[in-house]
Amino acid sequence: MSLSALCSLLLATTLLLMQSLTDAACSDCFVSSRASYYPNSDEQGTDVGACGFGSFGATVNGGDVSAASNLYRDGLGCGACYQVRCTNSAYCSDNGVTIVITDQGSGDNTDFILSKRAFTKMAQTSDAAATLLSFGVVDIQYRRVSCSYPSKNITFKIHESSSNPHYLAFAIEYQQGKTDITALQLCETQNFVCKLLSRSSGAVWSVNSPPSGPLLVRMLFSDDDGEDTWVVPVNNIPQDWKAGQTYDSGVQVNQ
Ligand SMILES: *[C@@H]1O[C@H](CO)[C@@H](O)[C@H](O)[C@H]1NC(C)=O
Repeated sequence: MSLSALCSLLLATTLLLMQSLTDAACSDCFVSSRASYYPNSDEQGTDVGACGFGSFGATVNGGDVSAASNLYRDGLGCGACYQVRCTNSAYCSDNGVTIVITDQGSGDNTDFILSKRAFTKMAQTSDAAATLLSFGVVDIQYRRVSCSYPSKNITFKIHESSSNPHYLAFAIEYQQGKTDITALQLCETQNFVCKLLSRSSGAVWSVNSPPSGPLLVRMLFSDDDGEDTWVVPVNNIPQDWKAGQTYDSGVQVNQ
């Protein structure tokens, strides 16, 4: 190899390296991938999604929801919002669609399996939507965005498998912003004895022998800069909590 060829190679390598450093530092940038849609679905998502959200997982955000493969992150990704836009300029709109992750799933090199409703929303027109559906899988770009639930507080949905007072499992619904809940504690309101919960599957936190009395929930929010913030809701989960019930936390987050 000649010296000048070696120099150009070095230059090219350096430029590539700088590009990938910029990409890594750019949390708002779009990432290229592929997306398909739930086969045989009616418009919405599924109420048996891996996140454990139940019917909320099918209908939240007007049914603009998705299954994720890597972005599922062992359940940590449940409830996260992404802007997804397809890239074929003949059929696709500039903004695409904003979806909520409520399930896990992978297809043919896809990061998202969208509800049919969300998939068709990426199109410019209804004719274009029909064409996109006929492709089955399309090239997309995506980026994480803040979830927004106007006039909703964070809500605790007691899972059907719960049984007071022996076993408590619940999912956290309507969490705004773009941070993850990475830890959760349940505390007694009298003596502040706390128990650290684990995420049993998807978005569901569970504990055997939960503390007694009204339960204070402490949630640890972590952003992608490694900033951690404990949030303590205004409202407790009442002592007589029941499977299937939802309880308003009285707080909302915006980051
Ligand atoms: C949210 O919580 C606040 C109190 O913290 C309450 O006043 C408000 O009614 C709640 N909003 C909804 C939609 O329940």
